[in-house]
Amino acid sequence: MTSGGDAPGMNAAIRSVVRTCAYYDRECVGIYRGYQGLIEADFITLGPRNVKNIINKGGTILKSARSKEFRTKEGREKAYNSLKKEGIDGLVVIGGDGSFTGGVVFNQEYNFPVIGIPGTIDNDIYGTTHTLGYDTALNTTIEAIDKIRDTASSHNRLFFVEVMGRDAGFIALNAGIGAGAEEILIPEEDLGLERMLESLKRSRRKGKLSSIVVVAEGEKTGKSIFELADYVETNMPDYEVRVSVLGHMQRGGSPSCFDRVLACRMGVKAVELLLEGKTNLMVGLINNEIEATDLEKAIKGHHEINRELLRVSDIMSI
Ligand code: F6P
Repeated sequence: MTSGGDAPGMNAAIRSVVRTCAYYDRECVGIYRGYQGLIEADFITLGPRNVKNIINKGGTILKSARSKEFRTKEGREKAYNSLKKEGIDGLVVIGGDGSFTGGVVFNQEYNFPVIGIPGTIDNDIYGTTHTLGYDTALNTTIEAIDKIRDTASSHNRLFFVEVMGRDAGFIALNAGIGAGAEEILIPEEDLGLERMLESLKRSRRKGKLSSIVVVAEGEKTGKSIFELADYVETNMPDYEVRVSVLGHMQRGGSPSCFDRVLACRMGVKAVELLLEGKTNLMVGLINNEIEATDLEKAIKGHHEINRELLRVSDIMSI
Protein backbone atom coordinates (compact mmCIF):
# COMPACT_ATOMS: atom_id res chain seq x y z
CA MET A 1 0.00 0.00 0.00
CA THR A 2 0.95 3.61 -0.39
CA SER A 3 -0.12 5.89 2.44
CA GLY A 4 0.08 9.56 3.46
CA GLY A 5 1.30 12.25 1.07
CA ASP A 6 2.23 10.76 -2.29
CA ALA A 7 5.80 11.05 -3.54
CA PRO A 8 7.52 10.45 -6.87
CA GLY A 9 9.03 6.97 -6.84
CA MET A 10 6.09 5.32 -5.08
CA ASN A 11 5.05 3.63 -8.33
CA ALA A 12 8.58 2.40 -8.88
CA ALA A 13 8.48 0.94 -5.34
CA ILE A 14 5.12 -0.77 -6.00
CA ARG A 15 6.58 -2.27 -9.17
CA SER A 16 9.60 -3.48 -7.27
CA VAL A 17 7.55 -5.11 -4.50
CA VAL A 18 5.26 -6.81 -7.03
CA ARG A 19 8.10 -8.12 -9.16
CA THR A 20 10.16 -9.28 -6.20
CA CYS A 21 7.15 -11.26 -4.98
CA ALA A 22 6.82 -12.81 -8.44
CA TYR A 23 10.54 -13.60 -8.44
CA TYR A 24 10.12 -15.51 -5.18
CA ASP A 25 6.88 -17.09 -6.36
CA ARG A 26 4.64 -15.25 -3.90
CA GLU A 27 1.30 -13.65 -4.60
CA CYS A 28 1.12 -9.89 -4.23
CA VAL A 29 -2.02 -7.93 -3.47
CA GLY A 30 -2.17 -4.18 -3.89
CA ILE A 31 -4.22 -2.21 -1.37
CA TYR A 32 -5.89 0.94 -2.65
CA ARG A 33 -6.03 4.21 -0.65
CA GLY A 34 -3.67 3.19 2.15
CA TYR A 35 -5.15 2.09 5.47
CA GLN A 36 -8.64 3.15 4.41
CA GLY A 37 -8.56 0.70 1.52
CA LEU A 38 -7.27 -1.94 3.91
CA ILE A 39 -10.27 -1.41 6.19
CA GLU A 40 -12.62 -1.60 3.20
CA ALA A 41 -10.78 -4.57 1.62
CA ASP A 42 -10.18 -2.55 -1.53
CA PHE A 43 -7.65 -4.99 -2.99
CA ILE A 44 -6.24 -5.92 -6.37
CA THR A 45 -4.04 -8.89 -7.19
CA LEU A 46 -0.90 -7.61 -8.91
CA GLY A 47 1.39 -9.60 -11.16
CA PRO A 48 4.55 -8.38 -12.92
CA ARG A 49 2.63 -7.26 -16.05
CA ASN A 50 0.17 -5.20 -14.00
CA VAL A 51 2.98 -2.85 -13.05
CA LYS A 52 4.38 -2.28 -16.53
CA ASN A 53 5.05 1.30 -17.63
CA ILE A 54 4.80 2.80 -14.16
CA ILE A 55 8.49 3.10 -13.19
CA ASN A 56 8.52 6.57 -14.76
CA LYS A 57 5.18 7.78 -13.40
CA GLY A 58 4.63 10.21 -10.55
CA GLY A 59 1.85 9.74 -7.98
CA THR A 60 0.76 6.25 -7.02
CA ILE A 61 -1.40 3.81 -9.01
CA LEU A 62 -2.68 2.48 -5.68
CA LYS A 63 -3.82 5.98 -4.62
CA SER A 64 -3.07 7.32 -1.18
CA ALA A 65 -5.04 8.55 1.80
CA ARG A 66 -4.73 9.55 5.42
CA SER A 67 -7.24 7.32 7.23
CA LYS A 68 -8.94 8.60 10.39
CA GLU A 69 -10.75 5.30 10.85
CA PHE A 70 -7.50 3.35 11.11
CA ARG A 71 -6.66 5.44 14.19
CA THR A 72 -9.53 3.76 16.01
CA LYS A 73 -9.43 0.24 17.47
CA GLU A 74 -12.55 -0.68 15.51
CA GLY A 75 -10.93 0.47 12.28
CA ARG A 76 -7.83 -1.62 12.90
CA GLU A 77 -9.96 -4.65 13.73
CA LYS A 78 -11.74 -4.29 10.39
CA ALA A 79 -8.35 -3.98 8.69
CA TYR A 80 -7.11 -7.16 10.36
CA ASN A 81 -10.23 -9.05 9.30
CA SER A 82 -9.80 -7.86 5.70
CA LEU A 83 -6.22 -9.12 5.68
CA LYS A 84 -7.13 -12.48 7.14
CA LYS A 85 -10.04 -12.94 4.74
CA GLU A 86 -7.79 -12.20 1.76
CA GLY A 87 -5.08 -14.52 3.09
CA ILE A 88 -2.45 -11.77 3.28
CA ASP A 89 0.55 -12.65 5.48
CA GLY A 90 2.60 -9.48 5.43
CA LEU A 91 2.29 -5.80 4.74
CA VAL A 92 4.63 -3.42 2.93
CA VAL A 93 3.73 0.17 3.76
CA ILE A 94 5.18 2.86 1.50
CA GLY A 95 4.78 6.20 3.25
CA GLY A 96 6.01 8.61 5.88
CA ASP A 97 6.16 8.55 9.69
CA GLY A 98 2.38 8.83 10.15
CA SER A 99 1.93 5.72 8.03
CA PHE A 100 4.63 3.89 9.97
CA THR A 101 3.02 4.80 13.30
CA GLY A 102 -0.14 3.06 12.08
CA GLY A 103 1.96 0.04 11.10
CA VAL A 104 3.64 -0.19 14.51
CA VAL A 105 0.35 0.01 16.42
CA PHE A 106 -1.16 -2.60 14.11
CA ASN A 107 1.80 -4.90 14.63
CA GLN A 108 1.58 -4.50 18.40
CA GLU A 109 -2.13 -5.29 18.46
CA TYR A 110 -2.24 -8.14 15.94
CA ASN A 111 1.38 -9.27 15.67
CA PHE A 112 1.04 -8.74 11.92
CA PRO A 113 4.30 -8.49 9.93
CA VAL A 114 4.89 -4.94 8.67
CA ILE A 115 7.83 -3.54 6.68
CA GLY A 116 8.09 0.18 5.87
CA ILE A 117 9.50 1.84 2.77
CA PRO A 118 10.10 5.56 3.40
CA GLY A 119 8.23 7.54 0.76
CA THR A 120 7.86 11.28 1.30
CA ILE A 121 9.31 14.33 -0.38
CA ASP A 122 10.14 15.79 3.07
CA ASN A 123 13.12 13.47 3.75
CA ASP A 124 12.30 13.69 7.45
CA ILE A 125 12.69 10.02 8.37
CA TYR A 126 15.38 8.64 10.61
CA GLY A 127 17.21 5.58 9.28
CA THR A 128 17.69 6.71 5.70
CA THR A 129 19.68 9.51 4.16
CA HIS A 130 17.09 9.71 1.37
CA THR A 131 13.37 9.05 1.33
CA LEU A 132 11.65 8.20 -1.96
CA GLY A 133 10.60 11.33 -3.79
CA TYR A 134 12.98 13.71 -2.07
CA ASP A 135 15.53 13.84 -4.88
CA THR A 136 12.81 14.38 -7.49
CA ALA A 137 11.18 17.10 -5.39
CA LEU A 138 14.54 18.88 -5.08
CA ASN A 139 14.97 18.85 -8.84
CA THR A 140 11.41 20.07 -9.41
CA THR A 141 11.93 22.83 -6.86
CA ILE A 142 15.17 24.16 -8.30
CA GLU A 143 13.70 24.08 -11.78
CA ALA A 144 10.83 26.26 -10.56
CA ILE A 145 13.14 28.63 -8.67
CA ASP A 146 15.42 28.93 -11.71
CA LYS A 147 12.40 30.21 -13.62
CA ILE A 148 11.55 32.65 -10.86
CA ARG A 149 15.15 33.86 -10.96
CA ASP A 150 14.71 34.87 -14.61
CA THR A 151 11.82 37.19 -13.84
CA ALA A 152 13.27 38.35 -10.50
CA SER A 153 16.44 39.44 -12.21
CA SER A 154 14.64 41.09 -15.15
CA HIS A 155 12.63 43.31 -12.78
CA ASN A 156 15.23 43.76 -10.03
CA ARG A 157 12.84 42.18 -7.56
CA LEU A 158 13.12 40.25 -4.35
CA PHE A 159 11.17 36.98 -4.38
CA PHE A 160 10.01 34.98 -1.40
CA VAL A 161 9.51 31.39 -2.53
CA GLU A 162 7.68 28.98 -0.25
CA VAL A 163 8.60 25.32 -0.58
CA MET A 164 7.08 22.25 1.09
CA GLY A 165 8.13 20.90 4.45
CA ARG A 166 5.88 21.64 7.40
CA ASP A 167 8.26 20.08 9.90
CA ALA A 168 11.47 19.70 7.95
CA GLY A 169 13.81 22.01 6.08
CA PHE A 170 15.55 19.47 3.83
CA ILE A 171 13.90 20.70 0.64
CA ALA A 172 14.32 24.37 1.56
CA LEU A 173 17.96 24.04 2.56
CA ASN A 174 19.15 21.92 -0.35
CA ALA A 175 17.00 23.45 -3.07
CA GLY A 176 17.83 26.87 -1.62
CA ILE A 177 21.56 26.30 -1.97
CA GLY A 178 21.11 24.60 -5.34
CA ALA A 179 19.05 27.48 -6.69
CA GLY A 180 21.37 30.13 -5.24
CA ALA A 181 19.01 31.62 -2.64
CA GLU A 182 20.13 34.62 -0.64
CA GLU A 183 18.47 33.42 2.56
CA ILE A 184 16.86 30.14 3.60
CA LEU A 185 14.32 29.88 6.40
CA ILE A 186 13.72 26.40 7.85
CA PRO A 187 11.73 24.89 10.74
CA GLU A 188 14.86 23.54 12.45
CA GLU A 189 16.45 26.94 13.05
CA ASP A 190 14.98 30.33 13.87
CA LEU A 191 17.66 32.80 12.90
CA GLY A 192 15.28 35.72 13.38
CA LEU A 193 13.80 38.32 11.08
CA GLU A 194 16.43 40.92 11.85
CA ARG A 195 19.18 38.73 10.56
CA MET A 196 17.37 38.16 7.28
CA LEU A 197 16.74 41.87 6.86
CA GLU A 198 20.36 42.70 7.61
CA SER A 199 21.56 40.14 5.09
CA LEU A 200 19.26 41.53 2.39
CA LYS A 201 20.36 45.09 3.14
CA ARG A 202 24.01 44.10 3.08
CA SER A 203 23.59 42.39 -0.29
CA ARG A 204 21.79 45.44 -1.61
CA ARG A 205 24.67 47.66 -0.50
CA LYS A 206 27.09 45.32 -2.24
CA GLY A 207 25.26 45.74 -5.51
CA LYS A 208 22.80 42.86 -5.63
CA LEU A 209 19.79 43.97 -7.61
CA SER A 210 17.55 40.96 -7.11
CA SER A 211 17.36 38.18 -4.57
CA ILE A 212 15.56 34.98 -3.73
CA VAL A 213 14.61 33.93 -0.22
CA VAL A 214 13.50 30.32 0.14
CA VAL A 215 11.07 29.67 2.98
CA ALA A 216 10.00 26.22 4.19
CA GLU A 217 6.26 25.96 4.98
CA GLY A 218 6.96 25.26 8.63
CA GLU A 219 9.69 27.86 9.24
CA LYS A 220 9.86 29.21 12.77
CA THR A 221 9.58 33.01 12.64
CA GLY A 222 5.84 32.51 13.15
CA LYS A 223 5.00 34.70 10.16
CA SER A 224 3.32 33.69 6.94
CA ILE A 225 5.32 34.17 3.77
CA PHE A 226 3.11 37.15 2.89
CA GLU A 227 3.83 38.75 6.28
CA LEU A 228 7.54 38.15 5.72
CA ALA A 229 7.30 39.87 2.36
CA ASP A 230 5.39 42.82 3.90
CA TYR A 231 7.98 43.11 6.65
CA VAL A 232 10.83 43.41 4.16
CA GLU A 233 8.91 45.76 1.88
CA THR A 234 8.18 48.05 4.85
CA ASN A 235 11.83 48.07 5.89
CA MET A 236 13.27 48.25 2.38
CA PRO A 237 10.74 50.46 0.56
CA ASP A 238 12.89 50.75 -2.54
CA TYR A 239 12.76 46.97 -3.10
CA GLU A 240 9.85 45.45 -5.02
CA VAL A 241 8.87 42.22 -3.33
CA ARG A 242 6.88 39.30 -4.73
CA VAL A 243 5.74 35.98 -3.27
CA SER A 244 5.53 32.60 -4.98
CA VAL A 245 4.14 29.54 -3.22
CA LEU A 246 5.23 26.41 -5.08
CA GLY A 247 2.88 24.02 -3.25
CA HIS A 248 1.86 20.59 -4.44
CA MET A 249 3.61 20.78 -7.79
CA GLN A 250 6.66 19.68 -5.78
CA ARG A 251 4.98 16.34 -5.10
CA GLY A 252 4.29 15.50 -8.72
CA GLY A 253 6.25 14.55 -11.80
CA SER A 254 8.30 11.72 -13.14
CA PRO A 255 10.76 10.38 -10.53
CA SER A 256 14.47 11.07 -10.98
CA CYS A 257 16.82 8.21 -11.83
CA PHE A 258 18.05 8.30 -8.24
CA ASP A 259 14.52 7.81 -6.85
CA ARG A 260 13.75 5.03 -9.33
CA VAL A 261 16.86 3.05 -8.45
CA LEU A 262 16.30 3.63 -4.74
CA ALA A 263 12.69 2.43 -5.08
CA CYS A 264 13.81 -0.76 -6.87
CA ARG A 265 16.39 -1.48 -4.17
CA MET A 266 14.05 -0.76 -1.27
CA GLY A 267 11.23 -2.88 -2.73
CA VAL A 268 13.49 -5.90 -3.14
CA LYS A 269 14.79 -5.59 0.41
CA ALA A 270 11.32 -5.08 1.90
CA VAL A 271 9.99 -8.31 0.37
CA GLU A 272 13.13 -10.24 1.27
CA LEU A 273 12.84 -9.14 4.89
CA LEU A 274 9.23 -10.36 5.02
CA LEU A 275 10.30 -13.68 3.50
CA GLU A 276 12.99 -14.00 6.18
CA GLY A 277 10.23 -13.65 8.77
CA LYS A 278 11.31 -10.17 9.83
CA THR A 279 8.84 -7.52 10.91
CA ASN A 280 8.60 -3.96 12.28
CA LEU A 281 11.49 -2.74 10.20
CA MET A 282 11.98 0.08 7.74
CA VAL A 283 14.34 -0.19 4.80
CA GLY A 284 16.59 2.80 4.27
CA LEU A 285 19.69 4.03 2.51
CA ILE A 286 22.70 4.32 4.80
CA ASN A 287 26.20 4.81 3.36
CA ASN A 288 24.76 3.83 -0.01
CA GLU A 289 23.67 0.42 1.29
CA ILE A 290 20.07 -0.65 1.88
CA GLU A 291 19.79 -1.29 5.62
CA ALA A 292 16.94 -2.13 7.96
CA THR A 293 16.07 0.11 10.92
CA ASP A 294 13.59 -0.65 13.67
CA LEU A 295 10.30 0.93 12.61
CA GLU A 296 9.77 2.55 16.02
CA LYS A 297 13.25 4.02 15.89
CA ALA A 298 12.51 5.39 12.43
CA ILE A 299 9.44 7.17 13.82
CA LYS A 300 10.96 8.42 17.07
CA GLY A 301 14.46 9.19 15.83
CA HIS A 302 15.18 12.56 14.30
CA HIS A 303 16.78 12.91 10.90
CA GLU A 304 18.97 15.95 11.52
CA ILE A 305 19.67 18.50 8.84
CA ASN A 306 23.30 18.95 7.96
CA ARG A 307 24.36 22.17 9.70
CA GLU A 308 27.33 22.50 7.41
CA LEU A 309 24.81 23.45 4.73
CA LEU A 310 23.68 26.47 6.75
CA ARG A 311 27.26 27.69 6.81
CA VAL A 312 27.72 27.03 3.10
CA SER A 313 24.52 28.91 2.35
CA ASP A 314 25.77 31.83 4.42
CA ILE A 315 29.08 31.98 2.59
CA MET A 316 27.39 31.71 -0.82
CA SER A 317 25.20 34.73 -0.13
CA ILE A 318 28.10 37.10 0.45
O1 F6P B 1 4.55 15.32 3.96
C1 F6P B 1 4.56 15.72 2.65
C2 F6P B 1 3.90 17.07 2.49
O2 F6P B 1 3.94 17.38 1.12
C3 F6P B 1 4.47 18.20 3.32
O3 F6P B 1 5.66 18.75 2.81
C4 F6P B 1 3.32 19.15 3.33
O4 F6P B 1 3.40 20.02 4.43
C5 F6P B 1 2.14 18.24 3.42
O5 F6P B 1 2.55 17.00 2.87
C6 F6P B 1 0.91 18.73 2.72
O6 F6P B 1 -0.12 17.85 2.98
P1 F6P B 1 -1.50 17.83 2.16
O7 F6P B 1 -1.23 17.23 0.82
O8 F6P B 1 -2.40 17.00 2.99
O9 F6P B 1 -1.93 19.26 2.01
